[in-house]
Amino acid sequence: MKAEEFGIGMVGLGGIANVHLEAYQGEGLRVVGGADPDPAARKAKEDRFGIATYDDAEELAARDDVHVLDVTVPHEAEIRIPLMQRLVKHGKPIVLQKPVANTHADALRIIEIAEEARVPLVVHHQSLFVPAFQAAHDLIQAGRIGDPYFCQIHNRGWWEFDHPIFGKNERWVLASMGIHHLALLDYWFGAWQDVYAMMGRDAGQKCVQGDTWSVLNIRYESGMRAMVQNNWSCRDDEAHNHPNEEVIVQGDRGTLTVRGNEVSLRTDAGEERFDVTEKWFPHAFGRFMRAYLQSLAEGRPFVTEGRSNLRVVGLMDAAYRSAEQGRVVAA
Ligand SMILES: NC(=O)c1ccc[n+]([C@@H]2O[C@H](COP(=O)([O-])OP(=O)(O)OC[C@H]3O[C@@H](n4cnc5c(N)ncnc54)[C@H](O)[C@@H]3O)[C@@H](O)[C@H]2O)c1
Repeated sequence: MKAEEFGIGMVGLGGIANVHLEAYQGEGLRVVGGADPDPAARKAKEDRFGIATYDDAEELAARDDVHVLDVTVPHEAEIRIPLMQRLVKHGKPIVLQKPVANTHADALRIIEIAEEARVPLVVHHQSLFVPAFQAAHDLIQAGRIGDPYFCQIHNRGWWEFDHPIFGKNERWVLASMGIHHLALLDYWFGAWQDVYAMMGRDAGQKCVQGDTWSVLNIRYESGMRAMVQNNWSCRDDEAHNHPNEEVIVQGDRGTLTVRGNEVSLRTDAGEERFDVTEKWFPHAFGRFMRAYLQSLAEGRPFVTEGRSNLRVVGLMDAAYRSAEQGRVVAA
């Protein structure tokens, strides 16, 4: 079966589902239907994307032409755990929007539900498939910066929108946003060893309940070191705001910088720039799903497989504990 032949069933038809649908249709992938209990959400997707919709996800999951379920419901455990228990009965591979859950314990429960039912589960960490990050990864792999030793990620801007779920959790900017960066670094540099985190909130951001800024110092088993800043209380730096966060990787022969679609490499020989035209929204979403469907077709393991993703959720969880307790937390 080719990637284009898989039938995708979307579970959850809210905000981010728009990007999924736009990206998949743009990639020539086949979405056969969507499910959401909210009639307004269903109508909006029927009108814009011409897909069949259902109020009950199980009705969609039961369709013979649905081969993969792409789940974009909010990541609260009270929503995801009962939904997963119902979906796995249909035996179809599940893609789950990041983060799996807000805590390691809840994420583990969700992964176990899939494992107990022998249903493959992967996490929609499309940050690994962002075209500019893929270009940077290729350059690192090709040895163009020599041995990498330090990476900095800066995501700074201001958030003050009354979103239905975004910002409403006790854990916010790291769990919902910074997790993209933690997944990327896990892919690039492997297992983390320990983390020291500081975080807080800006009392002026009335629409947010959790952390609005966080700074993580992370040590990796490989010797790599990273500093990851997600600061959505900064009124002054939209230039480095997601999806244009600045990613800098230093190696002993060069420095690689990604700012949005600008990728540049600076070595003793000077600066080289690389053209990247496709973007995080929506292209990374389409690239992610195409790569996943290809791995399914070929029976290959996939890079964001659920159990292996627990390492990423574990780092996020450890960072919250580090900030609460003011100490380094080891893996
Ligand atoms: N770049 C990214 O990858 C990215 C961006 C935004 C959001 N997200 C993630 O996507 C998830 C959803 O975010 P959103 O902004 O789309 O939220 P949203 O509130 O806009 O949409 C969620 C939808 O899920 C539906 N839903 C709830 N329970 C359901 C159920 N049992 N069955 C079917 N549908 C159900 C709701 O009715 C709603 O329409 C969150 O976990 C968030 O972290 C990821």
